[in-house]
Parts: sequence; structure tokens; C-alpha cells
Amino acid sequence: MAFMTKAWQGQEAFAVEGFDHLEFYVGNAKQAAHYYRAAFGFEPYAYCGPETGVRDYVSYVLRQNRVFVVLTTPLSSNHRISAWLASHGDSVHDIALAVKDPRAAFAECLRRGGQEAYAPRELRDENGTVTVAGIRTYGETIHTFIDRSGYRGLWAPGFVELRLPPVPRQETGLVAIDHVVGNVEVGAMDRWAGYYRSAFGFMTFVEFDENDISTRYSALKSKVVRSKNWRVKMPLNEPARGLRKSQIEEYLEFNEGPGVQHVALLSSDIVKTIGALRANGVEFLPVPDAYYEDLARRVGAIDEDLALLQRHGILVDRDEEGYLLQLFTKPVEDRPTFFFEIIQRKGALGFGQGNFQALFESIEREQARRGNL
Ligand code: FE2
Repeated sequence: MAFMTKAWQGQEAFAVEGFDHLEFYVGNAKQAAHYYRAAFGFEPYAYCGPETGVRDYVSYVLRQNRVFVVLTTPLSSNHRISAWLASHGDSVHDIALAVKDPRAAFAECLRRGGQEAYAPRELRDENGTVTVAGIRTYGETIHTFIDRSGYRGLWAPGFVELRLPPVPRQETGLVAIDHVVGNVEVGAMDRWAGYYRSAFGFMTFVEFDENDISTRYSALKSKVVRSKNWRVKMPLNEPARGLRKSQIEEYLEFNEGPGVQHVALLSSDIVKTIGALRANGVEFLPVPDAYYEDLARRVGAIDEDLALLQRHGILVDRDEEGYLLQLFTKPVEDRPTFFFEIIQRKGALGFGQGNFQALFESIEREQARRGNL
């Protein structure tokens, strides 16, 4: 199989156009929808449930610019989603990808070694057709292939407009999904990167292992797979031996297996976005002041005012193509598992790997000042 993987690297037999939406399985979609609206600035979009003839679950679709999020909750303990929730908690179940012909993409993906999640089907109503098919990936995560070009309705057949009373909050300016990161078991990263290369025709374009200094600090190995058009970028992490206990190990323990670690949402004005998210009550990982002491030397000239970045706790990293600004939320549920990243790209194609080292070094500097190192 190895030679086939190589031959197919980067040769998409089906064009992946981009992220379509993310479906989260959650324990209480009604309350989760309120959180995503009030904290992250999403708008109500579409709904299905008992009122629309769906007997066993509800789905709330929320929208912000090009980001679509579906929050789904089962209505009984014997629903298959209830078992999923019992093991993983609230988390991403489906990273849905837009393709032209899901039926053909599904067949080709299976031929290349992709694993079936569910068979292709056409969903129809008076507004047209949405075609979907499901492929499995790491853990109990799936990719729906979806084509909604033949549909004139709001979201998909069976959904009605979601109307909810207004929620006071600040606009956050989140534009699109930048990347989706998966955590997999020790030793499984290469297998999953190979899966995306062979079954999807994706390319591997960045990797880090134990020999990278940034990785010694963050205790993870990482490979990034991407679609040909660069719209879908998916880093895959596995735990590595590092200077401290791997956060990936902690994730795998509390998520009870592999799954989506974080989703990075793109902003075109990160200072404004972070200010609004903080005002809405979103909690971010704290950044020590010492991080900013050597920032100018590390990243060189940037457009933003460093004092303003420090005030908002925004991180900066530079690669060959440019730089990026980013910040990570705390986990958005009680298990130390799934979180969000907010990112603004100024040419950089990377994922902020330099920030691992810079963050940990600045934490050590502060420890040293307190005499604890
Ligand atoms: Fe990221």
C-alpha cells in the first residue's frame, strides 16, 4: 500500500472545496446555542426537532459569516448519540467538507482505503436536494461530504428558520474556519496523516517531532494535512516525551480517546475580536508579561502596537511567509478537552509553533524571578 499512498499524495480524485460546517454533539443544545450566541457572537440560523417532525434529536444551526456550527442533542438515553456523549462529553462529531459530488467522492475515498461512516443519501424537499455521505476519521469523528449547490432553501431539508429572542453581546467578527486540529494516540499520527494522503489525496506540509525545540516544551508531535486548494488544513497531534506532562495525554484521557482538540476561527482584526470575546465572558489562556519582553526581537517589525497586543494577551509568531496573531481559549466545557483558537494571518501559513517555546520560556523567566526555578 505504501507505494500507492505515495502515488496519490496531493492528487485529489475529488476536489475538497473547503470546510462546510462543524457539528457538535452536546448534552443540551438549547443552552449551548445561548452560549455560542452570547459569548462567541453567533446568530440563530436553522432548527430541526420535534416541532419539525424529528422525533429523537434536535439540531440548532448557528451562523457567523462563513462559520456554520450545528449543535445536536439526543432526546433519549438509548439514542446512539447519548453513548457518544457519555464517553466524550460535548465535542465535535463531524468536520463536514464541501465537495462537488459527495456520491462520487465517497466511492473514490472508499476505493483508496477510506472507512465508511454512512452511505450517500439525497435529502429532498420542495427547495431542492442536499447530498451527503460520511467517512470515518480518528476516534469517533467523521467527515460528512456535502453538496448543497442544488438546494435553494435555508440549510437542508427538514430544517426551519431558527427564531430566538435577541441576546446582548458584542460583535466578535469571526469570519471563517481556519483549521481543525485532531489529537490521536501515541504512534498513530503517521497512520492518520497517511490516511488523509491516500484516501483524500491531501498533502502533508508541516511536521514537528521530539527534535524540534518547540516540541520539547509542548510535548507533542504534529503533522499537518491540507487539501490541494489550502482551504482545509488539519494538524494531527500525538503525545511526545517533553519537558512536562503532555497536554495531549491529558486530552486523550478525558476525551476517552482521540478527537478534535481545537478549532481555529479566523478574524480580520484580532485586537477587536479578542476585546469583544473577553467582554462577552470568553476565558483565554493567560499570557505572562515576560512573553512580551523579547517579542520584538523574535518576530521583527509588525503592524500592530505591541503594548496593545500585551494588553489583550495576544500571541505573535513569524514564519518564512509572514506572521500570525493568535490566542487560545480555555476549554469550553468542564473536561480539559476541546477549546477554540482565534487567529489572524498576516501572510504566515504556519500554526504558531514558535509560541510554544516562547510561552514556556516566559513562564520559566517568571518562575526564576520568584526564585522557584
Ligand atoms: Fe491551531
